[in-house]
Amino acid sequence: MQHFVVVGILVILMSILTYFGLDAIGLAKQMHPVVGSAQAASIDQLWNLEMIVISFLFSLIVVPMVYSLVVFRRKKGDTSDGEHFEGNTTLEIGWTVVPLIIVVVFAYLGAYSLGEVRRVDPQAFVVNVKAQQFVWTFEYPEYGIISNELYLPANKQVVLKMESTDVIHSFWVPEWRVKQDVVPGRVTEYRITPTLQGNFKVRCAELCGMSHYAMENLIVVTSEEDYNAWIAEQRLLAATAAQTPEGQGKLLAVQYGCSGCHSVDGSPLTGPTWFGLFGKEEELLDGSTVTVDEAYITESIVEPNAKIVAGFTSPSAMPAYPTLTDEEISNIIAYIQTLK
Ligand code: CUA
Repeated sequence: MQHFVVVGILVILMSILTYFGLDAIGLAKQMHPVVGSAQAASIDQLWNLEMIVISFLFSLIVVPMVYSLVVFRRKKGDTSDGEHFEGNTTLEIGWTVVPLIIVVVFAYLGAYSLGEVRRVDPQAFVVNVKAQQFVWTFEYPEYGIISNELYLPANKQVVLKMESTDVIHSFWVPEWRVKQDVVPGRVTEYRITPTLQGNFKVRCAELCGMSHYAMENLIVVTSEEDYNAWIAEQRLLAATAAQTPEGQGKLLAVQYGCSGCHSVDGSPLTGPTWFGLFGKEEELLDGSTVTVDEAYITESIVEPNAKIVAGFTSPSAMPAYPTLTDEEISNIIAYIQTLK
């Protein structure tokens, strides 16, 4: 009996130590990244409760084990067998019923938390999200804006209607806690009420190909006024851009997510950079060279496998874009010509 009391006290002490140890490294009351959404609260609460139970279960296993190893180790010269036990019905009922209750309670809490996270605000506004290798594109249907950055007003629920054009991606903003897969062939919904203003990043949390690591776009959560100013600015920029071929080309590049693979500042991504591309002599995979002109770029858009630049993979990672019209292609080329 004395052993049980000692072990009991040690288990309680060890549980407390484990829990506060986890808390000290940011794994208990609040997960590491700051809380950035209304939905994060119930997830962090659930996480904290689980950490309490985990600390206790960890101690319940480790303490009796270490205690037995130390206290009941074989004495010198003792070669007798250990005591024989037939079983203990009370203990067996106990270790069946108690975990069952814990699991049922957590199932209820988990369902409750899921309900909180998906709670629908009828005032929520919609942003359409397109995921593709390797970029996120955001469309504001009310305003006709397409952007590679997600601007949102704080404290308003937004519902993201997400689609993928190729493989499975996953929309994840650690500060918001909630994560959602984006699956080709269907629309997945993601509701969030950002509460913290600032700059964040959406990261793709599903291994989706060569440049999966680079599939992160800027998210800006601002005040209502700054959000409205951004909307107005984007509408103006789009209207102005639409008046010139290179402006239209730039809008198309955003819409089709070209920047996911082609940088405009010379930095290397999955595809050749567009910076200084036009007029350049490119070496191809087969050793021959080509001058980057209208004909070559057009061919590369319609049939990406035709002539692959040295240093890139064959077959090309780029899908063909046969639906682009001749005018759209020439607008994109006009935009590329401005990048030098
Ligand atoms: Cu998209 Cu990883």
